[in-house]
Amino acid sequence: MVRVKVDAETPVRISPFAPNRVDRGCRVENNLDRNTAIGDTRHRVLIHPAVRPGAGYAFQGVLILPNDYFFHRDGLAQLTDDTPLVQKLATTHQYVQSYFPQVVRIAVALYDPATDVLKTYAHASDSATSPLSFYEAKLADSASLTEIVERREPRVVNDTDLYGKGSEHSRRIRAGGYGSSYTLPIFRNGSLQGFLFFNAIEKGAFDERSLHFFDMIAHLLALIVSGSLMMQKTLVATVRNATALAQHRDFETGLHMDRMAHYARLIAREVAPKYGLTDTDVEHIFLFSPLHDIGKIGVSDEILLKPGKLTAGEFEVMKGHALLGHQFIEGMVGNFGFDNSSNAQMLSNIALYHHETMDGKGYPFGRKGDEIPIEARIAGVADVFDALTSARPYKEPWLIDDAFQYLIENAETRFDRDCVAALVKNRVAVERIREQFVEAGDS
Ligand code: C2E
Ligand code: SIN
Ligand code: SIN
Ligand code: FE
Ligand code: FE
Repeated sequence: MVRVKVDAETPVRISPFAPNRVDRGCRVENNLDRNTAIGDTRHRVLIHPAVRPGAGYAFQGVLILPNDYFFHRDGLAQLTDDTPLVQKLATTHQYVQSYFPQVVRIAVALYDPATDVLKTYAHASDSATSPLSFYEAKLADSASLTEIVERREPRVVNDTDLYGKGSEHSRRIRAGGYGSSYTLPIFRNGSLQGFLFFNAIEKGAFDERSLHFFDMIAHLLALIVSGSLMMQKTLVATVRNATALAQHRDFETGLHMDRMAHYARLIAREVAPKYGLTDTDVEHIFLFSPLHDIGKIGVSDEILLKPGKLTAGEFEVMKGHALLGHQFIEGMVGNFGFDNSSNAQMLSNIALYHHETMDGKGYPFGRKGDEIPIEARIAGVADVFDALTSARPYKEPWLIDDAFQYLIENAETRFDRDCVAALVKNRVAVERIREQFVEAGDS
């Protein structure tokens, strides 16, 4: 900290941090607003040392030359912004590369303890595609990743030729041309949430000298990932709990929700390249699709559970569920302060637009084609397919072939052609999902 020379027309800043170090006898010549002067170099302040206190505005504070007191925008500032996780990953990647250009990829894989499945979730890399996009594998199948979990320590491989020959993961890492890697397990409250990967093309990219830097950045990212996951889990749990609390009516069974989620993910994966959906997007579609009908909690029992056809008037009321769901989610986002990293927008879109149709004859707005967010087109197809092939209070279940036929006949007018094709093409997976989540009493 340097005391300013008070004999010149020096542009000064007034430090708010040391208010007691008074330069007695100084006077601020112009009519300076002290609040705006703090930290603001645009003000040119004339200081007259000779003037005694009391003769004018007695200046309270230490004057500091601009170079000793300044603000700067750091390369990681975006991490505290309300931006999606992929963007934070991209920001961090750029930052890391400004010091270590050899780090060409940073990726996050998530772990699901229920299935022991590990899958890529988000990545930032130099090349357009990641060798680990849309890939999932069992953790137990990778000896080296299992060892990292057991040791709970980051691991460096400075020559990928020398390890893990067998696993799909290491095969893909080598196929991507990566010569070295840094891997950190992400834990929260003692349980594994996933992994963070830094990769370089060169061998030997992660030397002892640079490791403290990578450790720091990796832990920072781990906290961000963990926080973002927490946010999403809370969002989904909140919506589900609210549904359960608001009513004991079981208008959608848990199994319907499970099937919906899996059909939607199946479709999302297929159309991902065309619509630029990331692994993260696919995961969110999986997570949020089952909540599309949340607005039905605002529809009365007589209509919701009516064991027959709805009258035109009743159907009008029923159609309100799309907008109700959207309002409900928006309200929750406001109340709970969910940010962009929770992708609440995607959830909100699914609730609002899942009954829009490609020809603009859907509801609530009659949006057409591309005006309907892709996540809603995906959820729409998954929803109708499951509604058709399930029993409802007002109808018997259809056969898969009949449901496929219906979707195909209405592709383009009602349903997104790509989404229908994606589902029909994966008939085996569809059957597997149906068998996995079968209603009691259904055949
Ligand atoms: P939902 O049961 O989840 O059905 C979702 C969508 O699947 C329906 O949206 C419709 O596009 C399609 N779908 C379901 N069952 C059939 C069917 O038997 N034939 C055909 N062609 N399509 C079917 P939609 O029509 O906008 O209905 C929204 C919601 O309104 C339905 O959700 C359901 O809760 C309720 N709903 C619709 N029609 C009736 C009805 O006749 N009786 C009763 N009780 N509820 C109905
Ligand atoms: C493995 O699957 O063998 C480990 C791959 C890695 O940690 O990058
Ligand atoms: C999926 O969940 O995406 C597919 C599930 C399956 O193939 O059983
Ligand atoms: Fe609906
Ligand atoms: Fe539904």
